[in-house]
Amino acid sequence: MNVLVAKTANDAERIAYTLIKERISGKHDFVLGLATGSTPVGMYQMFKQDALDCSHVTSVNLDEYIGLSPEHPQSYHRFMKERLFDEVPFKQSHLPQGDAPDPQAEAARYEDLVRNLGVDLQLLGIGENGHIAFNEPGTALDAKTHVTELTESTREANRRFFDRLEDVPTHAITMGLDTIMNAREIVLVATGERKAEAVQHMIESVPTVDWPATILQAHPGVTVVLDGAAASRCAESLQARGQEAATRFFTIRD
Ligand code: PGA
Repeated sequence: MNVLVAKTANDAERIAYTLIKERISGKHDFVLGLATGSTPVGMYQMFKQDALDCSHVTSVNLDEYIGLSPEHPQSYHRFMKERLFDEVPFKQSHLPQGDAPDPQAEAARYEDLVRNLGVDLQLLGIGENGHIAFNEPGTALDAKTHVTELTESTREANRRFFDRLEDVPTHAITMGLDTIMNAREIVLVATGERKAEAVQHMIESVPTVDWPATILQAHPGVTVVLDGAAASRCAESLQARGQEAATRFFTIRD
C-alpha cells in the first residue's frame, strides 16, 4: 500500500487525478472504475476542466441504490451524468440498475459484466465506518457484487443528498470486496478529519471484516491519497513504515 499525504484536500484530488490521467492517456482501451459521493467530485471537475479524452475509456461504477430509477435525482446514474458524463464522453458507461425487477439477478449480471471487462484502475472513497463501495462492516472479504442493506450510519452520512432521512434508500447493489480486489490497480482518496479513524484502521489494523477497507492491504497495486486531516491519526506509523516498506510520506509544496 503506497500512501501519499498531501497538504490540502485539493492537492490530494490533484495527485489522484494526475495518476488516473497518466494511466488513461495513450492507451488504446481502458476500463476505469468510478465512485460517487463527495470525494470524487473535485476530481471529476478536473476531468472536465482538462477536457480529458475518455473516448477510449469504458467506465464501471461501484454501486447504485435499490429502488431508484436511472432518472431519479439522487440516483448514482444521475450523479455521474451531471458530474461527469454530460461533459466528458466515455466509450461506454455502466452502473448497476437500481430499479431492476430482480435485484439479485441484476447483481449477478453486473458481477459478470465487471469480471468480463476487467477493471484496469478502480477509484475508491472510504466511509467513516471503513466501508468501500457499499461493503459495510461485516461483509465477507470474498463477497462478489451483491444486494446489501445500508447501515444507519451510512444512511445518515448520505442524508445530505436527500430531503429527509426516510428518503435515503435502505438497500443498494454494490460491487463486492472480491470484485474490487480484482482490479489491476486501486486508487483510494480520503480527505477530512471525519475519515481519520477509518484511514487509521485501513493502514494499521490487521485485515478484518469490522473495517472492510483493511482488505486493501492484500492488494499489490494500491495507492492511498490523503490530506493531512485524514492522515492525522496515523502520521507516526506512516513515517516509521516509510523507512522499511514501500510507503512514502510527503507534503506537496505550494
Ligand atoms: P464520501 O463517501 O465521498 O461522500 O465521503 C465515501 C464513501 O462513503 O465511500
